[in-house]
Amino acid sequence: MADIVGAGGIDGLARVTKVLTALEAERAELIQQLRSQRLASWDEIGQACGMTRQGASRRWSQEAQATSFGDAAAAYQQGRPPYPASAVDWLVPANEHGLQDFGGRAASRNRVPEAVSAAQRTRVLDLGAGTGKLSRLLVDRGFEVTAVEPLAEMREQLAASVPQAVVLDGTAEQIPVADGSFDVVVVAQAWHWFDAAKALREAARVLVPGGTLGLVWNVRDQSEPWVAELDRILHQHGPQVMDTHPDLGAPFEQAERLEVRWEHQLTRADLLAMVASRSYVITLPETERTELLNQVTELLDSHLDLRGRKHLTMPYLTHCTRARLSEAGES
Ligand SMILES: C[S@@+](CC[C@H](N)C(=O)[O-])C[C@H]1O[C@@H](n2cnc3c(N)ncnc32)[C@H](O)[C@@H]1O
Repeated sequence: MADIVGAGGIDGLARVTKVLTALEAERAELIQQLRSQRLASWDEIGQACGMTRQGASRRWSQEAQATSFGDAAAAYQQGRPPYPASAVDWLVPANEHGLQDFGGRAASRNRVPEAVSAAQRTRVLDLGAGTGKLSRLLVDRGFEVTAVEPLAEMREQLAASVPQAVVLDGTAEQIPVADGSFDVVVVAQAWHWFDAAKALREAARVLVPGGTLGLVWNVRDQSEPWVAELDRILHQHGPQVMDTHPDLGAPFEQAERLEVRWEHQLTRADLLAMVASRSYVITLPETERTELLNQVTELLDSHLDLRGRKHLTMPYLTHCTRARLSEAGES
């Protein structure tokens, strides 16, 4: 008992936790640098961290995280938010491609006029489409949507929830479609997983000259205290590095940005599914994942703004970037 008091009691525990969290972030950063500069193998990193090669690569490898979503496709579909209407309309402006006004008749939000032939409809490619959260919204607007996704489990969910979309197995670095075959390429919550230079070249190849590349990310708004606490729990094993304002550069014109503040209504079960579908949670070792999910449950049970509530409101900031391919096309 004397030792516990000597160690600072509950304040001491909070201090130690803070130090550990900072050290974990430092370790993740160091590993990322060692790997990106090819200064150490996963064997060596595993050894240095007192774990196996598989354990280390599963936990910290960007590639392992990028391919982890298939294990949680159902949780993904249940818990991840959609995208706000104003962001979707900004990324794929209907009138620019002639969908909305045919002979003075406006297309309704959810119904495409029968007179609109396939040739007249805007062709949109959803890259890294996952379970089709954005594809769904694009199909509802009457666009002709093709979804490219490398993971079979995600494609299955996509095909079931958005049967109107053409679904293709492929990656952003090697898109399985012809040159100049799309008016718009969109990427939702996925650009940070791509090899940006290769993906940019591929997007330029598949777009028509003057076509648009649009990127979007939903980011939880941490100005809400319980959301900040949730994010502290989620990122305790290392920060998630994600640039939501990437520079695109040639052959694209100057990028434009939009930020949308909105709220997602979800149940407690949806929130737990959202947590379980995060790549950095999926790839945690079993005991740490269970511990993290328990901490989230405890937050839901104990926080004054959350306890006893079946329905929750998650505040989001949605970050959008769009850029036109120069009229000269791919250079
Ligand atoms: C966070 S999810 C986003 C899914 C979907 N766009 C959405 O908004 O819900 C990231 C998706 O990118 C996919 N992905 C990862 N690396 C990829 C790559 N190199 N090319 C294409 N897709 C990739 C993953 O399989 C996953 O489905």
